[in-house]
Amino acid sequence: MIKYSHGVLAHLVERFHGMEEVRSSNLLYSTTFIMKTILTGVRVNSEPTLGNFLGAILPMVRLANEYSQQGWQVNIFVPDLHSIISEVDGDFQKNLVNSIKYYLAAGLRINENIHIYRQSYVPAHSEMAWILNCVATTGELGRMIQFKEKSAGQKSVNVGIFDYPVLMAADILLYSANYVPVGEDQFQHIELTRDIAIRVNHKFGDIFVIPEKSADQAKFMGIVNGDGIRIRDLTNPEKKMSKSTIGDNSKIMLLDNPEKAAKKIMSATTDSYANIKYDMLNQPGISNLLQIESLLTGVPLQEVISTWAGESHYGDLKKKVAESVSTFLANFQADFQAISDEQIYELLEVGEAYANDAADAKLLQLQKAFKLR
Ligand code: TYM
Repeated sequence: MIKYSHGVLAHLVERFHGMEEVRSSNLLYSTTFIMKTILTGVRVNSEPTLGNFLGAILPMVRLANEYSQQGWQVNIFVPDLHSIISEVDGDFQKNLVNSIKYYLAAGLRINENIHIYRQSYVPAHSEMAWILNCVATTGELGRMIQFKEKSAGQKSVNVGIFDYPVLMAADILLYSANYVPVGEDQFQHIELTRDIAIRVNHKFGDIFVIPEKSADQAKFMGIVNGDGIRIRDLTNPEKKMSKSTIGDNSKIMLLDNPEKAAKKIMSATTDSYANIKYDMLNQPGISNLLQIESLLTGVPLQEVISTWAGESHYGDLKKKVAESVSTFLANFQADFQAISDEQIYELLEVGEAYANDAADAKLLQLQKAFKLR
């Protein structure tokens, strides 16, 4: 297995705020003797945004480096079947390989407890999703916010868009994942996964490990107040930063030219209060900048907030955040360029052998419960 020592961004990974207290107060005591599993995936329809990075990739890298050393299993997979709910383009395979490079460029240190695989190379995901389709209800799936958003105003909606959270539940339950580092927009899917698993266990006995509640997931990620991370669109901060938003200035992509990205921060929409304050409800633009600054520099959010509290010159804050973003991108991109495709394919080969064994064993348990075996 290849050993990686990427680490230009190690400071980001190590200094993620709030972690020490959270870990010692809530988790370490109860998890010392039982090895657990952390799992996450990021779709690869295009290059990820800074929102994907700060909401999921960076927290995952930090948790993976720390907990895999203690014997926990860490699964990082590419949800390629989730990608095809919308059209994918000719660059899909390239994006897929890149999506794994992002973790490595962010400082992921590979060891035998970290498993990297593609969802469609582990057929048990699709098979388990089908069985769970017979557990989840149309009412539950119809209530998913992402489904409502993606189907709003469409004449015809493919079933994959509706059924997508069930596949996500299979992704998580197949590997008995306890923690699933994701951004706030995915919390509803985690809750659905829990509901499905509880229902199966209630009927058939202890088949599934129930993933932790969303609020506890957030705490595990180091977010002390229990809210998830939601990086906002730069031109319309009421909305989350999203790869699918039209308009280049609304989002920062991981491979954006650093100077260009700095300009996007300088032109970010703010408000007319002339008072720097962390208030996502009334001042989402300014709050978003404070959040980005904290996550990128590793300075705890409260500290960033008090440094800037009461200042009226938004331009000064923008300048500081623009600098943090461009420095981050320059370092990140240098590390990214140094990783070869061959390294990634080697990791996938090992990871997919592991994932198929682990997933088949759990699938068999469920098949037996449903009298299919
Ligand atoms: P996806 O690919 O839409 O997003 C990947 C991750 O990035 C997070 N994210 C954000 N976090 C903060 N601010 C933002 N603006 C922002 N935008 C996106 C998402 O919350 C997510 O964590 N269903 C998943 C992929 C998936 C998955 C899984 C994840 C499939 N199966 C099993 C975990 C476990 C998705 O579509 O994420």
